[in-house]
Amino acid sequence: VGMEDEGPLVGAIDQGTGSSRFLVFDRECRVARREGRRIEHQVEVKQSCPHDEWFEQDGEELLGSVRECMEEVGRRLGEGGVRRLAGVGITNQRETTILWDKTTGKPLHPAIVWCDGRTAQLASDLIRNSPSKSKDQLRQQCGLPIHPYFSALKLRWMLDNSHSVRTAIERGHCLFGTVDTWIIWNLTGGVNGGVHVTDVTNASRTMLMNIHTLQWDPSLCKFFGVPMDILPEIRTSSEVYGVIADGVLKGVPLCGCLGDQQAALVGQQCFSPGDAKNTYGTGCFLLKNTGQQVVMSNSGLLTTVAYQLGPGQPVYYALEGAVSVAGQSVRWMRDSLHLLESSEQIEEYAQEVEDTGDVYFVPAFSGLFAPHWRSDARGLVIGLTHSTTRAHLCRAVLEAVCFQSREILDAMNQDCEPPFTQLKVDGGMTVNEALLRLQADLLGIAVVRPEVREMTSLGAAVAAGLAQGVWSDSAHLPTLLSSTFQPSISPDKCDERYGRWKEAVKRCLNWHP
Ligand code: G3P
Repeated sequence: VGMEDEGPLVGAIDQGTGSSRFLVFDRECRVARREGRRIEHQVEVKQSCPHDEWFEQDGEELLGSVRECMEEVGRRLGEGGVRRLAGVGITNQRETTILWDKTTGKPLHPAIVWCDGRTAQLASDLIRNSPSKSKDQLRQQCGLPIHPYFSALKLRWMLDNSHSVRTAIERGHCLFGTVDTWIIWNLTGGVNGGVHVTDVTNASRTMLMNIHTLQWDPSLCKFFGVPMDILPEIRTSSEVYGVIADGVLKGVPLCGCLGDQQAALVGQQCFSPGDAKNTYGTGCFLLKNTGQQVVMSNSGLLTTVAYQLGPGQPVYYALEGAVSVAGQSVRWMRDSLHLLESSEQIEEYAQEVEDTGDVYFVPAFSGLFAPHWRSDARGLVIGLTHSTTRAHLCRAVLEAVCFQSREILDAMNQDCEPPFTQLKVDGGMTVNEALLRLQADLLGIAVVRPEVREMTSLGAAVAAGLAQGVWSDSAHLPTLLSSTFQPSISPDKCDERYGRWKEAVKRCLNWHP
């Protein structure tokens, strides 16, 4: 399949919080294969927590891991395969903030990662010192509450705390980027003429872009004290930004760019208003397409750009429920508690018991994101007894992912019609079928998992392929096969357990001073 025929291929860079990967797709939206093996490569990336709630990554390591994946896949494709690559799309962890010196190409500070909580105080000071004293005062312009999650706060923190950042700004050497921008700038030449761009979806996560005009908003930049000359140019999600300047893929156009959650929406072909998907990665992100309309949430959801698939194309928006800890809690059980040898083991343990024995786990490691937005919450496990085992805890960890998704789904149903009748899912955790059965039970609706698991990568490939005419338009993409998981418990049972979860959530609030 894939390599055997002669059709065009499309590459996708996926730079996530846990790993970087490069995959190649064929026109059927399948991962291309050579001699039976999928053409892909993945490299884990490190995360460091120098203080409680700080979460950093090394911009050079992120870039290096992407290059490593591209080189490996390029070698496997061979010259003939590379010639068939119509283009490469990029998708990335969003909000993570990088500042670098455009004359040396070096980062000026470690990247501050999206789930970093160091700016909680800064956020509350900004809110307290403003005339309206509301965290929602910028929502009409950017769709988001003032919160450490978004890039503007991280950028402000670096301006306030890094001498090298301030010096580079004074000299006119500093550039800002989310991860997409940093990678595109480097791959298109870096200090030798790299292109400084981002796309509408990534820009919509900074708090600096006006969600109606899709331009950097001078009043938002002023609010956060951000100099506008360090910001990249905002482009659509599907157009040629430049060509790869060196390495095995030299000369291939970079022509698609989407934040990873928006990429999954595109990969899942959620192109009609009301279409939605939930992606289970480090965190968990449910996005619902709201069409060309900007819908403001009354229930703690974010308003964000879903995609704009080319210059002159309409802009689609989405409501988003962002949960900061999903797969991350499995990683925590493995790496910090050493209760698991591998992440996959959680499925086996969780199935050893029929329920959690009334144990609930709330993974509010650095507060709670949607729909609560509470930086003062901290994680808890409640309901422990003498008979609690590792299996109960494993099951409670999986249930926590499902309950958090339920909170988001309920908020979405409150904010806009029509209510969900099923939920499309994807992401690394969805290999875990025990999780998907629990999710169907705890939502009370069917959960649909497509055969292609790499939806974020596929979305980036679709954006790139559309720019190059691999597919004529989004209505002409191949149909994706999927399997469905139906709920198996009564709605009463489901509501009872959800009620207990909500009790647990109440108890984890107001913990952090
Ligand atoms: O907003 C953060 C999100 O983009 C991170 O995604 O896949 O690394 O959990 P992921």
